[in-house]
Amino acid sequence: MLAENIRDRQRRGKFIVLEGVDGSGLSTQAGRLHAWLEQETGRKVLLTKEPSEGPVGVLIRQALSGRVQGLGADTLALLFAADRVDHLTHSIIPALEKGHHVICDRYLLSSLAYQGRSLPLEWLKQINAEAIVPDLTIFISVDPVVTLKRIAEKRFKVDLFERENILREVLNNYDILVQELCEEGQNVLQLNGNRTLEIVSNEVLSKVQEYFMIDK
Ligand code: TYD
Repeated sequence: MLAENIRDRQRRGKFIVLEGVDGSGLSTQAGRLHAWLEQETGRKVLLTKEPSEGPVGVLIRQALSGRVQGLGADTLALLFAADRVDHLTHSIIPALEKGHHVICDRYLLSSLAYQGRSLPLEWLKQINAEAIVPDLTIFISVDPVVTLKRIAEKRFKVDLFERENILREVLNNYDILVQELCEEGQNVLQLNGNRTLEIVSNEVLSKVQEYFMIDK
């Protein structure tokens, strides 16, 4: 099994995950971190995201945009979990094993925070049992009023979860989950994302540098 294999091995690259509600600036922050980390370490850094570009990820995006209809919350949760295994198998783990760092825009915590609104957390954890633990999770906490304003300025169409009441629930779930991860001893950074992307970005970079004590 995926999880057992990777746990047994010495992973050389670092696996960094970014999390937050829709419109938290995750892609922007991931992009900046990617450029900086590559320059700083001289290593290859894979910048990737979930839902992934793989076949299950494509189907999920169609469901989120409303092009594919009729999938229940549990079916969608299983698709996110399947996409994650596919993504780990074909992209993330091979890159880490080659010694590349990996930055992933959304990962397991997204499933727990979003799908956890209507489905039992224990079941979600079970179907995601193969998901390896990141070396560092960066949670960018932004008020949904701010994120929805950002989304509205950028595009006209809204995706499935882009409504204030939903995002507020998701944000509450993230707060609880992040607390749990800290208690488990995982490396988690919680940043206040209600500030300019520039300020948040500088904080992301300096915190990542602290965590990994990168050799120049
Ligand atoms: P996002 O990357 O924000 O989409 P886009 O590239 O269009 O900005 O992610 C898509 C949505 O999927 C987002 O609302 C969060 C949701 N999501 C889940 O509900 N569960 C998951 O496991 C993942 C990875 C994402």
